[in-house]
Amino acid sequence: MDTKQISLFSTDGNTQDLDAQVETLRKEIEKHNQAYYELDNPVISDSEYDALLRNLKDLEAKIASTGGNIPQNSPSRKVGGKAVKKFAQITHNPPMLSLDNVFNEAEFRDFYQKLTTRLELPENSELTLSAEPKFDGLAVNLRYEYGKLTAAATRGDGQNGEDVTANVREITDIPKQLTGNPPDSIDIRGEIFMTKKAFAELNAKSSGKLFANPRNAAAGSLRQLNPEITRKRNLSFFAYGIGSYQNFTLPENYSELLNLYRAFNIPICDLQKQINGLDAAIEFMTNLGKIRNELPFDIDGVVFKVDEFALQKQAGFISRAPRWAIAWKFPAIEVSTRILDIDIQVGRTGALTPVARLEPVEIAGVTVSNATLHNALEIARKDIHIGDFVFLRRAGDVIPEIVKTIPEKRPADARKFQMPERCPVCNSAVIQDESAVIRCSGGLHCRAQRTASLIHFASRAALDIQGLGEKIIEDAVELGKLQTPADIFRLTVEDWKQLPRLGQKSAENLVAAIEKARFCTLPRFIYALGIREIGAVNARALAEQFSSIEKILTASEEEFLSIDGIGAESAKYLKSFFSDQENLAVIADLLKLGIVLEEVEVKKTLNSIFSGKKVVITGSFADFSREELAEILRGFGAKVSASVSKNTDFLIAGEKAGSKLDKARELEVQIIDAEKLQEELQGLSKN
Ligand code: IVH
Repeated sequence: MDTKQISLFSTDGNTQDLDAQVETLRKEIEKHNQAYYELDNPVISDSEYDALLRNLKDLEAKIASTGGNIPQNSPSRKVGGKAVKKFAQITHNPPMLSLDNVFNEAEFRDFYQKLTTRLELPENSELTLSAEPKFDGLAVNLRYEYGKLTAAATRGDGQNGEDVTANVREITDIPKQLTGNPPDSIDIRGEIFMTKKAFAELNAKSSGKLFANPRNAAAGSLRQLNPEITRKRNLSFFAYGIGSYQNFTLPENYSELLNLYRAFNIPICDLQKQINGLDAAIEFMTNLGKIRNELPFDIDGVVFKVDEFALQKQAGFISRAPRWAIAWKFPAIEVSTRILDIDIQVGRTGALTPVARLEPVEIAGVTVSNATLHNALEIARKDIHIGDFVFLRRAGDVIPEIVKTIPEKRPADARKFQMPERCPVCNSAVIQDESAVIRCSGGLHCRAQRTASLIHFASRAALDIQGLGEKIIEDAVELGKLQTPADIFRLTVEDWKQLPRLGQKSAENLVAAIEKARFCTLPRFIYALGIREIGAVNARALAEQFSSIEKILTASEEEFLSIDGIGAESAKYLKSFFSDQENLAVIADLLKLGIVLEEVEVKKTLNSIFSGKKVVITGSFADFSREELAEILRGFGAKVSASVSKNTDFLIAGEKAGSKLDKARELEVQIIDAEKLQEELQGLSKN
């Protein structure tokens, strides 16, 4: 059952109906609890689950308001799932609670206001809170006796958890012996989780069971009878709470407790902060939201807690959660949707890429309707059928990825997908090389390959023809005006004007830009030809070695191979490219039409300030997208990464740079702004 069906439940029917509806909803939620907590295999996304629970609470509130009874065992009042029998059980005293959620500022304000009222604080007073990420893993209780780890248990249903001591001993993050001055006994509570990297590696390696997200992967890896498996899974831990203790003086507030934990060598998240009042809380949420994607682990919100233990006690608990804490959730980065169809895209080198057409869904503010499936192997590994329901994740600026299918929801009419035997664009036969990639054999006869090659030819790191973008090239190919790159130099203002989007002025500007692009350097020209495996760096190396196009045209495979950075594959592609009569004709044509390969002395060394450097790009740029810029910088030898760390050499900061800029400043990473970048790029392209 999904949320859409749930929302069809009428909440204004008679009580009889309401009771029946609520019962169905409870059963549904119980089923999802079991899938999530006991089987580590959810069939709905967290946000769908949250919506079901909300619905239940609303309906129960309605029942309660008319004097009805809410059973103690309703899922709205319970914590987590049952402890599974394969493990011995450990009883928690005091029980391990859950947290109530809020989803927006209004709900958070409401929580804060009710809390201050309950604590009888004067109006507008600033309550001291602890703010920290809500880690997306599973809660555990670690018992230390005389400093030694003696028992570890999952939360289970809050009362009883599973004894996972042997497995927890395999987690290197968790000390088996506390340092400093540990008490006779203490129950340290916190979250076991898996980093994004460990999760991606685990799913990529797996040919069998896939996990929907790092949380399920962490739970599945901990709840194993064989501790060897846990050891290999690379789990992490942060502490955020306390159970019972002996011979230990509880400090006044939670933030101090975390400091004591630090002294015990227990891992604590550095993002935890003590803050004062509502505005600071909202600011914390906003700021953490900005860096969420850059963190090495998944977080799904912020947990705010009353910092002072005495006040926590005063606020107390309701059924399954404390009144002194709240989880303010971020928009989900993982949703479920459906694959409506699988299309094939044909790239510049003829590679056929399957792309899933999805029922459009919103993930963290962006509507997503496509996701690449990479290749046939990937489809087979994930057992993807057309019609399948799937989990889709969008982490940061990265393109959305189908993590796994939901086999439990596969419709009867779901179809297996077969890669085509002929190119869907030009109908040429396809060929499969040693890799999983299937290619169209049509070369430049294939319209898709032709279009993509032309787009590459005109792109910024190639001939950099201003104004000759994808759409115009597609239209020109469609109208039969463009066949080869040489045609670009043949077309007149009159020709360009016949394209749907071009008027007199733009056509004139375009011809002027093309005229300018005639004066080109040898490395750019080689790169523009779009030879397989020959990116900007290799193109430059070729130019340095041969210093003229004529010499390259007649070079042997061995000569190519002797160049640093050019391997056997690339040498083969180079030779075959320059042996192809059509390619030679296009090059001759281009030279005849007046491409001038400027007589510049090519520097013998790759003298770029970016060579071998780790760079991060943030903000927006007038001249190119972040992806284009990354490509250009890679061409100059940079390693482009997504997040700023102390190992970052440069942060390239465009307009509206946000948290990455702050972080770079904090870590004293060298910052290159748009203007400085322009200077550097100009300097480099003169080579
Ligand atoms: S405090 C009594 N702090 O969220 C309060 N919980 O949805 C106990 N969680 O069961 C929890 N990060 O598994 C707390 N910083 C954090 C947390 C956190 C994640 C989990 C924990 C809890 C669940 C409730």
